[in-house]
Amino acid sequence: MSNHPQGRALLGGRLSAVLVAAGSSVGLGNIWRFPYVAGDNGGGAFLVVYVLCVVVLGLPLMLAEFSVGRAAHRNAVGAYRTFDRRWSFVGYNGVVTAFLILGFYFVVSGWTAEYMIHSLTGDLARCASADDYRAMFDRFVASPWRPILYTALFVAATHFIIARGVQKGIERSAKLLMPLLFVVLTALAIHSLLMPGSGEGIRFFFRPDFSKITPSTLLVALGQAFFSLSIGVGTMVTYASYFRPEANLRHTALHVTLLDTLVALLAGAMIFPAVFSVGIEPSAGPSLVFITLPAIFNGMPLGMVWSTVFFLLLVVAALTSTISLHEVVTAYFHEEWNLGRRAAARVTTASTLVLAAAASLSLGPLREWTIAGLSFFDSLDFVTANILMPAGGFFTCLFVGWRFDKRLLRAQLTNDGKLAGRIYPLLRFLVRWVCPVLMLLVFLDSLGVF
Ligand code: PHE
Repeated sequence: MSNHPQGRALLGGRLSAVLVAAGSSVGLGNIWRFPYVAGDNGGGAFLVVYVLCVVVLGLPLMLAEFSVGRAAHRNAVGAYRTFDRRWSFVGYNGVVTAFLILGFYFVVSGWTAEYMIHSLTGDLARCASADDYRAMFDRFVASPWRPILYTALFVAATHFIIARGVQKGIERSAKLLMPLLFVVLTALAIHSLLMPGSGEGIRFFFRPDFSKITPSTLLVALGQAFFSLSIGVGTMVTYASYFRPEANLRHTALHVTLLDTLVALLAGAMIFPAVFSVGIEPSAGPSLVFITLPAIFNGMPLGMVWSTVFFLLLVVAALTSTISLHEVVTAYFHEEWNLGRRAAARVTTASTLVLAAAASLSLGPLREWTIAGLSFFDSLDFVTANILMPAGGFFTCLFVGWRFDKRLLRAQLTNDGKLAGRIYPLLRFLVRWVCPVLMLLVFLDSLGVF
């Protein structure tokens, strides 16, 4: 295994790799996207398919991305190029995808910041019913400037952390924010489970009804698994390029996957009881958590406090993920275009801000502007989660399975033979055969081929 190049950033302590990668994985994907996608696709049945995707496809791919990143010590494009120029398109696919995800992710992050502030000031407590909350949400996202203002604030916070560098920015923020996130989430989930009438929501979420599974469910579950684990975007390649040589990649991938899945489950256990007790359809879409939870909190003692804490949770989860997406693009500009790190961060920040403003306006003043019937905001989400990320994952499998030097793969998985090597033949078999074939089947299935 090659030594870490001099002068390149390296993460500090033993836990850092897990915390930083979990910071990327655990995000709005778990707490905002997962519940509404699950709600829209049958609840419990979706959960089963989702967990299968995580275990069979997500985990091996995360390990594959870690191996490529740590072996190359480069940004996503540079990493693939180091091994084979013809495969650099996988890196480019990642950088473009990260950029496009930031376009809508920053907007939703802005919403969470606005809702946190309004919980704190008590404005959010003024509505009387779930319908009022829906009207309030619709008015808010359609406003031309308010969501953009908060989005810009969020972009600025991300920029500030990225500009401080890998150790002082990314690593420090993860060490502070991730433990905070777990404490808050556990408190909220327990609270939600103790609510009267939580049973119906729990049944919806945990009892599978397989008749609800359609061909598109499989692709949606796959896309959600990749989105939630930050796979197929070059994030894990980029982060692993800062891992220490002694970091245990297997354990890191396993812990990150477990944490990510646990957070999605806790988020479901927190949100579905709430959804049913205020009588909102679980398939309400992206507005789900912004309508149901404030409505629930409103009727409770100390509602303002709970609501502030919940939106703080979302803000924290979102921030560690926007940082990781931003880093994919920043590291690319920094290393491939030879820009200073700060200049690279500035280019990324400025361009994502323009994209995010367009996405935000597409829900309000520019609502007429649709692409194949979807708003610009929705098309960014759709194209990244259902096309670019699965494609990125698919080509990563092919690369690591068929092109990447197998000795290098083994060296990465065993830290040059210091760790047991049992995982190596299994992983290689999975990424060579099982994962690409399964992904192809899911893709064809969603196109209606079977
Ligand atoms: N995994 C993050 C989330 O769940 C989103 C993300 C996707 C981050 C891809 C990085 C790369 O919110």
